[in-house]
Amino acid sequence: MNIETIRWRDNHIELIDQTKLPEKLVFLKCRDIKSLHDAIKMLKVRGAPAIGIAAALGAYLGIKNFKGGITGFEKQLNGVIKYIGSSRPTAVNLFWALERMKSVFDKNKKYPVEKIKKLLFEETTAIIEEDKITTRRMASYGVSLIKNNDSILTHCNAGALATFDYGTALGVLYKAREDKKRFRVFFDETRPLLQGARLTAWELLRHKIDATLICDNMAAVVMRKGLVNKVFVGADRIAANGDVANKIGTYSVACLARLHKIPFYVVAPVSTFDMSLESGATIPIEFRKPHELIWIKGIQVAPKDIKVYNPAFDVTPNELVSAIVTDAGIFRPPYKKSLLKVKEFKLNQL
Ligand code: MRU
Repeated sequence: MNIETIRWRDNHIELIDQTKLPEKLVFLKCRDIKSLHDAIKMLKVRGAPAIGIAAALGAYLGIKNFKGGITGFEKQLNGVIKYIGSSRPTAVNLFWALERMKSVFDKNKKYPVEKIKKLLFEETTAIIEEDKITTRRMASYGVSLIKNNDSILTHCNAGALATFDYGTALGVLYKAREDKKRFRVFFDETRPLLQGARLTAWELLRHKIDATLICDNMAAVVMRKGLVNKVFVGADRIAANGDVANKIGTYSVACLARLHKIPFYVVAPVSTFDMSLESGATIPIEFRKPHELIWIKGIQVAPKDIKVYNPAFDVTPNELVSAIVTDAGIFRPPYKKSLLKVKEFKLNQL
């Protein structure tokens, strides 16, 4: 049942082209870093943990054919890391994975280049294996928050497609299903790029979960009518005070959840925390091109020359977050205090 979103195959990166879903399940081969950069930028591969994996594999792809000495190798690796780092700014997993690759180099630069290449490849495998473990660990913590007859709202796609093969917020739902809990799901279409309607729908159907699509402006009514009693979302970057950057629209859902007294849960691995940021105010937010609002899947829906405001993410203030489910456990407010354990966990991983 599980799908692998992205993997190394022979001498290239193979990934599910998520822009083609749900109509077609197409695998894209990236044989150079330009095509990998394009795949990340165009959201062919997307979701914070998945783009972390893409970045690590991309760093390896960019140096695997290098011939020469250590100085040239370091220069090439730094160039590749900088280039991949310029693809998308918000999900911290991308930079976390690139830093891991750089630190493998830094710790091993005394060795021959071919050996360092091998160690860099091993790091990509470690990042993937850790994703498999952390997603399942989050799910086993998060499942305690789901009770029989719950009805859960989710936003964007925080499933297998956003990770290696299981998911963050949706991973919790998959675990609840494995544990034979009875629940249903409502999910937002998630304009402008419809990660909910296209990707979450595709995944939930595959998992045979009772799921209902709504458009983004229906969340209030669904809550008011008592059709949902919990919200689960993923995250792209979480600051030290628990402010959460996630897909645009998440903040509105959190505000609505508070108004309707519905718990709002965030599910994210420790790699999504950026403890260097005191609050969400300094999380870099990606702004995307106007055509994403003017066109929907090739159909023009607004005048070409209209002004467009298109931030891809928003920041939900920590006071609206009931709990954050991570691979290090479940954290509750006050986050400044409780998330110190995440800092400790991260330091122990170094
Ligand atoms: O622009 P996207 O599709 O990459 O945005 C993805 C999200 O906002 C997800 O909710 C987030 O990465 C968490 S997924 C595990």
